[in-house]
Amino acid sequence: MNKEVKFAEDFWWGAAMSGPQMEGTFDKAHENVMDYWFRTQKDDFFDGVGPEVSTDFYHQYKEDIKMMKSIGMNSFRTSIQWSRLIKDLETGEPDEKAVEFYNNVIEECKKNDMILVMNLHHFDIPIDLLKKYGGWESKHVVDLFVKFAKTAFELFGDKIEYWTTFNEPMVIPEAGYLCGFHYPKLVNKGKEAVQIIYNLNLASARAIELYHQMCNGKIGIVLNLTPAYPRSQSTEDLNTSKLVDAFYNRNFLDPAVQGEFPKEVTDLLTENDVLWESTSEELKTIHDNTVDFLGVNYYHPKRVKVRETKLECDQWTPEQYYEEYDMPGKRMNPYRGWEIYPEAIYDIAINIKNNYNNIPWFISENGMGVEGEEKYRDENGKINDDYRIDFYKEHLFQLERGIKEGSSCFGYHTWTAIDCWSWNNAYKNRYGFIGLDLATQKRTIKKSGEWYKTVSENHGFSIEE
Ligand code: BG6
Repeated sequence: MNKEVKFAEDFWWGAAMSGPQMEGTFDKAHENVMDYWFRTQKDDFFDGVGPEVSTDFYHQYKEDIKMMKSIGMNSFRTSIQWSRLIKDLETGEPDEKAVEFYNNVIEECKKNDMILVMNLHHFDIPIDLLKKYGGWESKHVVDLFVKFAKTAFELFGDKIEYWTTFNEPMVIPEAGYLCGFHYPKLVNKGKEAVQIIYNLNLASARAIELYHQMCNGKIGIVLNLTPAYPRSQSTEDLNTSKLVDAFYNRNFLDPAVQGEFPKEVTDLLTENDVLWESTSEELKTIHDNTVDFLGVNYYHPKRVKVRETKLECDQWTPEQYYEEYDMPGKRMNPYRGWEIYPEAIYDIAINIKNNYNNIPWFISENGMGVEGEEKYRDENGKINDDYRIDFYKEHLFQLERGIKEGSSCFGYHTWTAIDCWSWNNAYKNRYGFIGLDLATQKRTIKKSGEWYKTVSENHGFSIEE
């Protein structure tokens, strides 16, 4: 028996990319943190491949947007690079070449009838602001981000209908200050991380406030929601998963949608004397300027248990309360090392419906990175990535369940359209519907790209039950 998995006729079918991962560094006014990290610590990057050329969208955007359209995409997200658009980081004065480039991209999307979602920050703070002011630890950097946003809204605000302030803001403190896998590669710096969490929320709210004063479209935020599942139903494990959820998900989700930080987090931080520095005026800005819509990036769940071995650490850090739980029998993507658990998409959909006023939302990233896809290339040159099609089908099936139960999801974006550069994995794992030959920059549509076209045309697909 076949079952139809169906979506609304105006559902968004698209994919996300980001400026720093696909444009290349041509003509850039400044280096961002990732450019700098690569230039100074090349060995951290797979095969020593950096962001200089990456997917060369800077030169090939016309063909790329056409190709995206040809695989059924009706929408796509990218980001403006702060380090490209802004010539003077203190005043927010733009760089003319960058203005021309972004105007061209916007124009090309219009020509192709492609909905463009423009994001302002995708992990890519200009390195000068990290060196001079301590990056997102500094409220002066929040002011400078608002100037960047103002310039972007003045230049392009009314030419683009959908904006987002940040992509996965939690990754900035988590990867850079708690776990050490993104530059500045610090570990267990809990106090710094919580100030960054606060400052990013403030920066987002201030950009939203400004946008609503200046423009008429919609503005949201893209969050990586990683549902926390407990090892067992014991009170200890359950409380642990709630705390992990509050710290890693709700620390952005609650302020973005409801205007307030989770009380269990602020209580815990206060007890430990590590609460962020805030003013009542700033808290009011966060309270009054919530998002119009939400983007949710979902890749994998987080399995946790109560901490059983004491964490040796000289300052407060959220990890002192929990440990990752290595669940026996879990399905894995061995290349990226992430668990595959499509059911979490349903849980996210229901959580948004029940606890976040059923705010309009879309899946803004979901995908599967695979190493060595060349071995799936057939004699006609096509990569037969059936594993990716299966991955998407399973996740879309769960999403449709959530929508049928009333969750107001309006679209699905994968990661990604064309294979692109990744933070230190470089081009190791490929995610695209369109494959990239790094040596020649030749693009080839994969089987998943052909499949996506049929899904978009039919507003769904059928699966065997
Ligand atoms: C998301 C990011 O976390 O995951 C993307 O928004 C990233 O920038 C994607 O590329 C896939 O992760 P990775 O580390 O395999 O590139």
